[in-house]
Amino acid sequence: MDKLIIFDTTLRDGEQSAGAAMTATEKLKIALQLERLQVDVIEAGFPIASRGDFNAVNTIAKNIKDSTVCGLARANEKDITAAGEAIAPAKRKRLHTFIATSSIHMQKKLNMQPDEVLAAAVAAVKFAGRYTDDIEFSPEDAGRSDEDFLCRIIEAAIGAGATTINIPDTVGYTMPHQFGAMVGRLIERIPNADKVIFSVHCHNDLGCAVANSLSAVLAGARQVEGTINGIGERAGNTALEEVIMAVRTRRDVFSCDTRVDARQLVPTSKMISTITGFPVQPNKAIVGVNAFAHESGIHQDGVLKNKETYEIMSAEDVGWASNLIRLGKLSGRNAFRTHMKELGIQFADDAGLNEAFGRFKDLADKKRDIYDEDLLALVGAGSEIDHSYQLESFQFTNSSDGKPHARIQWRANNKQYDAEADGDGMVDAAIRAVEKDANSHAALALYSVNNITDGSDSQGSVTVRLARDGVEATGHGTDTDIIVASVKAYIHALARLEQAEIKAHPQL
Ligand code: KIV
Ligand code: ZN
Repeated sequence: MDKLIIFDTTLRDGEQSAGAAMTATEKLKIALQLERLQVDVIEAGFPIASRGDFNAVNTIAKNIKDSTVCGLARANEKDITAAGEAIAPAKRKRLHTFIATSSIHMQKKLNMQPDEVLAAAVAAVKFAGRYTDDIEFSPEDAGRSDEDFLCRIIEAAIGAGATTINIPDTVGYTMPHQFGAMVGRLIERIPNADKVIFSVHCHNDLGCAVANSLSAVLAGARQVEGTINGIGERAGNTALEEVIMAVRTRRDVFSCDTRVDARQLVPTSKMISTITGFPVQPNKAIVGVNAFAHESGIHQDGVLKNKETYEIMSAEDVGWASNLIRLGKLSGRNAFRTHMKELGIQFADDAGLNEAFGRFKDLADKKRDIYDEDLLALVGAGSEIDHSYQLESFQFTNSSDGKPHARIQWRANNKQYDAEADGDGMVDAAIRAVEKDANSHAALALYSVNNITDGSDSQGSVTVRLARDGVEATGHGTDTDIIVASVKAYIHALARLEQAEIKAHPQL
């Protein structure tokens, strides 16, 4: 079996989804989870985009030991220097540089002749060699590029030192049979193709990203790029969980496999959904809540007789385990610390442990059964407590013949606020009360509620996204009461909006 390299770009291309901006702490959390999932390469960001992006990539480079950390750079020295410096502390580092090669991109976006583009690609790959010998080159919009030109530029990039050649279908235009055939021809035609790994990077505009990637794997590609849950620009990227399980389940078709620990797929998907606020559709393959549910009577009967009648994978193998733990009200700090360690969560210091333990005790007072998902939520999105922005106390009143009314006491930047408001519903009343004092003039770009576990006593996880003057900020809140979770998420988003920064986009 060949090895299929899994290159995760959730933190770079995934973050380019409208409204998916993440903080450095959130990115580090996701990177650590991707390492637990055992992806081979984590594309941690686009360091030239902003100081925040540089720092996020740099922090990830310092903390990730078992996956290669990659930084993206356009084909110019400034971008490459930023990416090279950001990834410098990584145990294994890759620099990914790219330039567009389709006629439309070269003419309309770059305003460059093909030979100038080729020279820039060669210079960029050579310059990247100052920082690492693991260099990936991508001819952007390869799916719509002239094949002869692709052969020329790729051969030159390999000659200049590229070790991975990535073929992007940037606008999701190609069909699976065409894309696979194109990748096969490139591998065959380029004289030095045997010196590199061929990779693919597909977008999902026509819903073909996973099919295109798999078709390319059949044609010889040995790296697939994508994101968990398929998040990404416009219709998103290749959903990695689908590629991983397709090659593993259909070993009769694919002569390669990945090193991924598939039991981490569902926890990773949940973490990314909570942090970005993008829910996973219930019927989504592998990670959707219905992916292993057998509703129809015929299916249930079949599954009871023999699982394989309707199941080609097992739910447990991709991480759909019911993780009821034996921690409760009376559990001590040590039991808590040990169990969190088993979940892959370690606390930097005693203060961090004590804070999380305090929140665990509060939860155990409200909720009888505590699941691993509850614990991960305690330390997951929204748990970066910003002590300067906090919900202090609240009173909510509502009845069938009255108007929903909320009084909220909260704190921002050492100022105490206390306001009351009516609303169309309880959440609306509570947010109006906060806004009376905040006066943020921000638009509510997203409000989403998810349950963390099953049952009516589940914690609700709320995501709020606020937009103002071209920047967006996402806040999270969890609580067994959805109105409280909503207010926490709103205040969290307000705090973040104050710190949000404008970033450069790599492909504009
Ligand atoms: O879609 C694309 O072409 C990209 C490149 C930067 C690889 O994301
Ligand atoms: Zn892309």
